[in-house]
Amino acid sequence: TTTPVSFNLAAELDAALKHAATAAALDEADTFSPEVRPADPRHGDFQANGVLPYAKAHKQNPRAVAEALLAALPAELRDRYEVAIAGPGFINFRARPAVLLDWLLHYDSARKLRAGAASYHGGERTLVDYSSPNTAKQLHVGHIRSMVIGETICRLLEFCGAEVIRDNHIGDWGTQFGKLIWGYKNRLDENALAQDPLEELERLYKVADEAAKTQPAVLDAARAELVKLQQGDPENLRLWNEINRISSTAFHRIYEQLDIRFDHELGESFYNDKLPRIYDEMQSCGLATESQGALVVFHPEHPRFAKQPFIIRKSDGASNYATTDLATMLYRTEHFAADSIIILTDTRQNDHFEQLWLTTQKWYAKKGYRLPKFEHLSFGSILGHDGRALKTRTGDPVRLQSLLDEAVERAFALVTEKSPELPEADRRHIAETVGVSAVRYADLSQNRSSDYVFDWDKLLSFDGNTAPYLLYAVTRIHSIFRKLGLDPYTATGGENGRSTADTATAATGDGGNSAAGGSMATATEEESANAPATAAATSADTAHAAPTPPETEHELALARKLLQFPAVLQATTAQFRPHFLCTYLFELAGSFSSFYAADKVLSDEPATRARRLLLCTRTLLLLETGLKLLGLRLLTRM
Ligand code: ARG
Repeated sequence: TTTPVSFNLAAELDAALKHAATAAALDEADTFSPEVRPADPRHGDFQANGVLPYAKAHKQNPRAVAEALLAALPAELRDRYEVAIAGPGFINFRARPAVLLDWLLHYDSARKLRAGAASYHGGERTLVDYSSPNTAKQLHVGHIRSMVIGETICRLLEFCGAEVIRDNHIGDWGTQFGKLIWGYKNRLDENALAQDPLEELERLYKVADEAAKTQPAVLDAARAELVKLQQGDPENLRLWNEINRISSTAFHRIYEQLDIRFDHELGESFYNDKLPRIYDEMQSCGLATESQGALVVFHPEHPRFAKQPFIIRKSDGASNYATTDLATMLYRTEHFAADSIIILTDTRQNDHFEQLWLTTQKWYAKKGYRLPKFEHLSFGSILGHDGRALKTRTGDPVRLQSLLDEAVERAFALVTEKSPELPEADRRHIAETVGVSAVRYADLSQNRSSDYVFDWDKLLSFDGNTAPYLLYAVTRIHSIFRKLGLDPYTATGGENGRSTADTATAATGDGGNSAAGGSMATATEEESANAPATAAATSADTAHAAPTPPETEHELALARKLLQFPAVLQATTAQFRPHFLCTYLFELAGSFSSFYAADKVLSDEPATRARRLLLCTRTLLLLETGLKLLGLRLLTRM
């Protein structure tokens, strides 16, 4: 066709129906919202659900409205879709096979996919505050949620055209430093510090905290250390820096393992000199009042926050989390000129952020500051099999580093069992990717609002909606192309490199994986049945034959699944719910398996072979693009 290929066919249909509403002169056409969504595959590819509510609101017959809309659709669109009215007034669309082929031919690289998605969030500058741990404590398993969900949201937004600023808002200031510094000065074990510095800091805090509970003199001394720090005492500042440096080193080891890189790490301390302005403005705007010596903000219109205040200065005159967050909000809008701000924490901070946002809206309105969009994305807890927060046998929180180490060890055992012939270095490399990805994917594939039960067997399984399953699906497609001697991304045997699948968010390709063949991926029956005697001849034929539109049941089902990617990407990003994308990738891998089992890729008919190889290469592209958006590293063999 001559029409340019729309990236998101659902959006294209939405726009066409909106236009048809005006063309058909529906009364109040501007209130009509087509609501085009992916449909139950038995009825079509997309369904418009908006006719019913419109007809109801305007007291019209929905079928008559649907018919008027269809009659007003451009002929060109009717050539490209089978259109039918169903039930009381749903409109179903099924893309014709030629449309599927056009799309598959056009969207041949991650670059083109990005260009297609650029309108979703193009021109938006979004600051994402994630990970943001408190210093002097180990990261435990619960911390992974903010990191992996936050990183995925950054990658999704970037892919969809936004300019993303990643800020790690470290909790590097606060009352804990009085006890920490007292502990450091009075109870330090030098050897332990050299061995495992963060562990020693954690111990010092516990020791100081215990001592302060029973000995008033210690409590006073710790308070005095805190005051000295706040007044800029050089020795205490030096210790404070040292403590933060130790924490930062440990945090960054994990960030590296998870391929997370921040643009900024402006911790709470960064805002210290910006707090007086907050007290000033909150008071001069008439938002803050004194209550029992503290400075507080009430929200009279709110059922709870009318009575429960947002405390912005404690009665002892000290600043707190709320003060810092107000200053942080201001800095992000003034200095970074963020259009949109996203903060990730667990659900326990819901009240804090609700109060922060209520306060900010009123404050910005009074001052005439430009209000950004704001999202506090919260997430549930990771539970053990007993339904309580995941703990070690001794009842301590599970450390994230030991969890990741264990994941890699378990993955190594699995890989060794499946592919004992691989050199150890290759098995280690695969295990690092599979282990870390499995933990990460297990988290992302759950609805972030819910708690979930952490289950080693489930997350490391090669069956089901897991990282091992999807990584394996990817390696299987690589192995198909490898056997044919074809380039997996062009299916033409050309010299194009692997770069087409890059999402440009992070160079997390499969790096140095040089595993030799003859492993897990190589021995499936379908593949041996498909393998040609001479790959070279195939590659030459395929390079020249033009693919025909999908034809068989399984080709069509796979092609239709591939074309859902844009709508899934849009919904995932709009609702900040990575599990939508996970579910989609899992289903896509399933559609591919069914297709591959049913339809012989190496057909004797060159055009058939070309279209089947096209389906293989596009499945690979979308699987790899999707997995990279989820922050996974990829493998070409396992
Ligand atoms: N440090 C906080 C915590 O560990 C999370 C900070 C989130 N960001 C923010 N701007 N408050 O709970």
